[in-house]
Amino acid sequence: MNNAIILAAGKGTRMKSELYKVLHCVLGKPLIKHVVDNLDNANINRKIVVVGHGAEEVKKVLNDNVEFVLQSEQLGTGHAVMMAEPLLKNDDGITIVICGDTPLITTETINNLLTYHANNHADATILTAIIDNPSGYGRIVRDDHNEVLKIVEHKDTNNTERLIKEINTGTYCFNNQKLFTALKNVKNNNFQNEYYLTDVIEIIKNSNGKVLGYTTEDFSETIGINDRIALANANLILKRRINNMHMLKGVTIIDPDNTYISVDTKIESDTIIYPGCVLFGNNTIGKNCIIGPNTNLENIVIGDQVKVRESVISDSTIGNNTTVGPFAHFRNHTVIGDGVRIGNFVEIKNTHFGNNSNAAHLAYIGDAEVGSKVNMGCGTITVNYDGKSKFKTVIGNNVFVGCNSNLVAPINIGDNAYIAAGSTITEDVPNDALAIAREKQTNKPGYANKYKK
Ligand code: UD1
Ligand code: MG
Repeated sequence: MNNAIILAAGKGTRMKSELYKVLHCVLGKPLIKHVVDNLDNANINRKIVVVGHGAEEVKKVLNDNVEFVLQSEQLGTGHAVMMAEPLLKNDDGITIVICGDTPLITTETINNLLTYHANNHADATILTAIIDNPSGYGRIVRDDHNEVLKIVEHKDTNNTERLIKEINTGTYCFNNQKLFTALKNVKNNNFQNEYYLTDVIEIIKNSNGKVLGYTTEDFSETIGINDRIALANANLILKRRINNMHMLKGVTIIDPDNTYISVDTKIESDTIIYPGCVLFGNNTIGKNCIIGPNTNLENIVIGDQVKVRESVISDSTIGNNTTVGPFAHFRNHTVIGDGVRIGNFVEIKNTHFGNNSNAAHLAYIGDAEVGSKVNMGCGTITVNYDGKSKFKTVIGNNVFVGCNSNLVAPINIGDNAYIAAGSTITEDVPNDALAIAREKQTNKPGYANKYKK
């Protein structure tokens, strides 16, 4: 069996944050979720996350395909791995250990590491990288046969060791039994008085174990997020990786430096993304769309040939051939049909908006069901809230809602109905009717002249 232990109990002192380190986000997704998702797609049977600081919050962002063990006192990475012993002690397979703060290590690299470890019959294989500025990382010390002798933590290095550019990425493959046997002999007599996981390397080596280093070609994958500078770097690296992937698949990104797309966004070819877009969460965007500039999308599905300009949209679906914005706002399970036009300053919430309907200017549509070929005039408001509860507005097909109308919910407007401009509608309107609900106009002739005298 292949197991993974993910270390996520630390507070992350160097982040200088109230938020636990592994909950900080790279392109909108918590570090720990990146790590677990990357493992999801790798050749791993069982995933165990070691939680401590912020345990409950960390659990909330992960699915139920992981198991949790608690490290209530953070005595070091070696101590953290020990917490998984009760779950794994009888397993004869391979165990990967990975730090929860290395979000960029790809599934492919994890699988390559596993293969290398198995093919070479190693007892431990360290994922290493060669970097120009190794400061802060554990250094890999190799012997004459190019096997690994030990890892020395930055703070414990001597002058020669400090010059070594091959670093420990914090990801390892172990023979499960040898890992837990070695851990029993780890001491905390080092600079930080912690039980270092890295010490098991020397222990396994000294008990005639075979310890190898597998070096990744792409060192940028291995960045460990210890402070806000590393966090910004990770955003930069991942942003480039994702944007390049989309461009190679036929998406035009006009300014990739200024476009932020989550790992979990899918975009079809010939869609154009203008600068200033932030696409976070799980999005699916069809082909031939124009998105942006300056548009935020989060957890949305968009069909083909859709234009979305300067808008903010979350948890919603948009059909084909629809145009949105500038300055529209959809949220909370809004479903917009095909061939729809939503214009400037229109907010739509928890609403089903039918095919070929329009709301071209200045409207609030909340908790509504709007049929097809409906025209919602400028300034239409669904009055959905009485201060205590929310109520529903149902509008049939082919309805014309005149400008500046209030539709006081709960209310039903029948098919083909007309609402006169400026009406406050409080009673249902039958099919084919015209509803007028406003004060009749009175003109007072000559009033102005009289008033001036
Ligand atoms: C660790 C490695 C270092 C490596 C670097 C790569 C050790 C001793 N050092 O250093 O060789 O170059 O990662 O990024 O392992 N954690 C716990 N419990 C603890 C302590 C830490 O769960 O008691 C978790 C943290 O939440 C974090 C991970 O382990 O996700 C790594 O801890 P961190 O303090 O970041 O270790 P580094 O100093 O980066
Ligand atoms: Mg770290």
